[in-house]
Amino acid sequence: MTAIDRYIESHRQAFVDDLVDLLRIESVSADSNYAGGVRRAAEWMVERFTQLGLATELIETAGHPLVVAESPPVPGKPIALVYGHCDVQPPDPLSEWTTPPFEPSIRHGNVYARGATDDKGQMLTHVKSVEAWIRSGEPLPLQVKFLIEGEEEVGSPNLEPFVAENRERLACDCVVISDCGQFGPGVPAITYGLRGIAYYELKLTGPRQDLHSGTFGGGVTNPAGALVSMLAALKDSDGRVQVSGFYDDVLPLTDVERAQFRDLPFDESNFMRQLAVDGAWGEAGYTNLERRWARPSCDVNGLTSGYQGDGAKTVLPARASAKFSFRLVPNQDPAKISQALKQFLEARLPPGIRMELVDYQGSPGVVVPLDSPYISAAATAIEAGFGAPPVYIREGGSIPIVNTFARELAADVLLLGWGQNDDNTHSPNEKFSLSDYQRGILASAHLWSELAKLPT
Ligand code: BES
Ligand code: MN
Ligand code: MN
Repeated sequence: MTAIDRYIESHRQAFVDDLVDLLRIESVSADSNYAGGVRRAAEWMVERFTQLGLATELIETAGHPLVVAESPPVPGKPIALVYGHCDVQPPDPLSEWTTPPFEPSIRHGNVYARGATDDKGQMLTHVKSVEAWIRSGEPLPLQVKFLIEGEEEVGSPNLEPFVAENRERLACDCVVISDCGQFGPGVPAITYGLRGIAYYELKLTGPRQDLHSGTFGGGVTNPAGALVSMLAALKDSDGRVQVSGFYDDVLPLTDVERAQFRDLPFDESNFMRQLAVDGAWGEAGYTNLERRWARPSCDVNGLTSGYQGDGAKTVLPARASAKFSFRLVPNQDPAKISQALKQFLEARLPPGIRMELVDYQGSPGVVVPLDSPYISAAATAIEAGFGAPPVYIREGGSIPIVNTFARELAADVLLLGWGQNDDNTHSPNEKFSLSDYQRGILASAHLWSELAKLPT
């Protein structure tokens, strides 16, 4: 056991205490009422990096601030850039949390709080591994740079220009990101693909104001009814998106990749049990993993119209709106999808209804090469931390800035997720396993020595 391993073992509780401290900060990026919380989380990061002696800067943007910190250069060794986010998703519905989202609670070896796994807990493993190297008196064997942002959960609108304008400062050989998951308990993974996203809000307006549904119902288009039919038209009964040209640029899954997916220990009935559903559904002709990892999809994310209070109110609402999104796979272009979608919806607009389509910033999907020495180094480090070699997976979620890294920094991207599928990300009772936290710290500490063995 090295001094670093010993430091990690003996600081287990201190690492948890510090994570709990960060999880108390209400850093919801989507809601401007929480802007102070996002800033406090960034300041918290600055404090930690400064204590470790890293050259640290809090950088203002047009939105939430970001943090850049770097350890001293190590000539002849590669440079690793750790990317993570300290912002979190809104915590609602609050009533479904067993303990409040910003009062971290430890139960059954997990810490429960908004941001526990996504991404405060995962991101912090790399800060703690750097701490372990430095505090046990070992100079880091390579230069580690940190880039921590506060807008990932809103699509990283200000990070993209920052990366493009700061290529020298962020120059690196590989980007390390822990913001996804393991394949399952005891099955760590390296992720080589993520889906992209195109997100919209459709706002429909009908009559001047809400009407009596008895007096007027049947004589004028109901915006809520129009909305649900327009949304329902987006997919057919085989789960195929109906927007024209939607699949034109989709790269088909290869037989090799389909076989690799099939070799993974995935059990659809376990999946259904975990979600408490009595059936699974998706695009015809594809397996569950293929549908979620390598095929595009379409989901309604929120619906608003009419009377939401207790009891019945016979109203014909004047307005209806929906938030919905497509998950995209590599080679699909969000801008092209937006154009085709607008035409699709306009063609289906019933008489008496006006529409507005709000286009939130989208991002394309990504697949990273696996035949890289950095990936092999990461696999060795994961085995050291988790006691098992990683499997290679794709995932369905999106990390908008990954494409920009690959393009602007010409660096290999290592997606090393420590989370679990049942961590309840974006849901009530989000959690992170404290053993995965500890193993992630150990794997990260080994990653620095494995990467330092590589030529530059
Ligand atoms: N950490 C997730 C992305 C993720 C989730 C990757 C699951 C792999 C598996 C990230 O914080 C996230 O939630 N991203 C958003 C991006 C969106 C707001 C633009 C997403 O995927 O919905
Ligand atoms: Mn995340
Ligand atoms: Mn997220």
